[in-house]
Amino acid sequence: MIKEEIQRLKQEKNAVILAHFYQKPEIQDIADYVGDSLALSRIAAGTDADVIVFCGVYFMAETAKILSPEKKVLLPKMNSLCRMAAMIKTKDLEQYKQEHPDRFIVTYVNTRADIKALSDVIVTSSNAEKIVEHYKDKKILYVPDKNLGTYLRYKTGYDIDVWPGYCYIHDLLTINDIKKKRDLYPNALVLIHPEAPLEVLQEADFVGSTKQILEYATNSDALEFIIGTDEGIIHALQTKNPNKTFHLLAKGLSCINMKRISLEDVHEALLKEQHEIQVDEEVANKARKALDKMMELS
Ligand code: 13P
Ligand code: SF4
Repeated sequence: MIKEEIQRLKQEKNAVILAHFYQKPEIQDIADYVGDSLALSRIAAGTDADVIVFCGVYFMAETAKILSPEKKVLLPKMNSLCRMAAMIKTKDLEQYKQEHPDRFIVTYVNTRADIKALSDVIVTSSNAEKIVEHYKDKKILYVPDKNLGTYLRYKTGYDIDVWPGYCYIHDLLTINDIKKKRDLYPNALVLIHPEAPLEVLQEADFVGSTKQILEYATNSDALEFIIGTDEGIIHALQTKNPNKTFHLLAKGLSCINMKRISLEDVHEALLKEQHEIQVDEEVANKARKALDKMMELS
């Protein structure tokens, strides 16, 4: 019943529903598009819908608003906040820039608009390596994820300083988790998101964004996988690969903020056109420049 009502309101308001892979299965199932941060940003930039209902965390909906300022962007639960995005403050980045004027600021999409506005280019976990390659002659500061930044430095060997932020679920993964799961499932391949610590990533069979993990598992001849990212991705993995088996690398791999949105919230958001994302115009214009650079290079 509620699903039909969501579909009806969606048509009436010419709305599109976007959902990240970490959303609850029932939200992924009613979405028009399910994707990673990069794919959802691209869809938000190109859609001709009048309303975007973003089922993800705040920075994702805010990025959609920056890329599509003329659209109404709704976040069904305003308290869906990425904890990593809160680990960097504008004044601290401004101070760093003053002290290191030669550093080129490469910023993870998991940040607020005011941090993007102070950045030279934005990256996601799908395109970070490619974009950093493009700036190989520069001295880089990577913000705010110390793990992805350290991984980029390890992969490229470039001069990359890293901010001390992290994702609280991926940062807890350990080599011991891998050892235990490999003992239990010796034929399984280990696929991990690059927000995990470097020593853990070094033990993986594949490192990639949520979408890249999905593609890798789908295209692989292997039948069993150990997944080192949020449990939400298991729904998409299993739907696309009903003949394959997926195990989570560790307990607790579930981002609370990504699980806040319910079908009722999506329904309310469409019905009352709430909660609308607003971004200060000057901040949005600066942030858009860094996002456009990403789009151009990825
Ligand atoms: P992806 O860009 O890989 O979808 O990751 C987003 C995220 O928040 C990971 O924790
Ligand atoms: Fe942020 Fe981690 Fe949640 Fe992704 S999983 S939204 S990085 S807190």
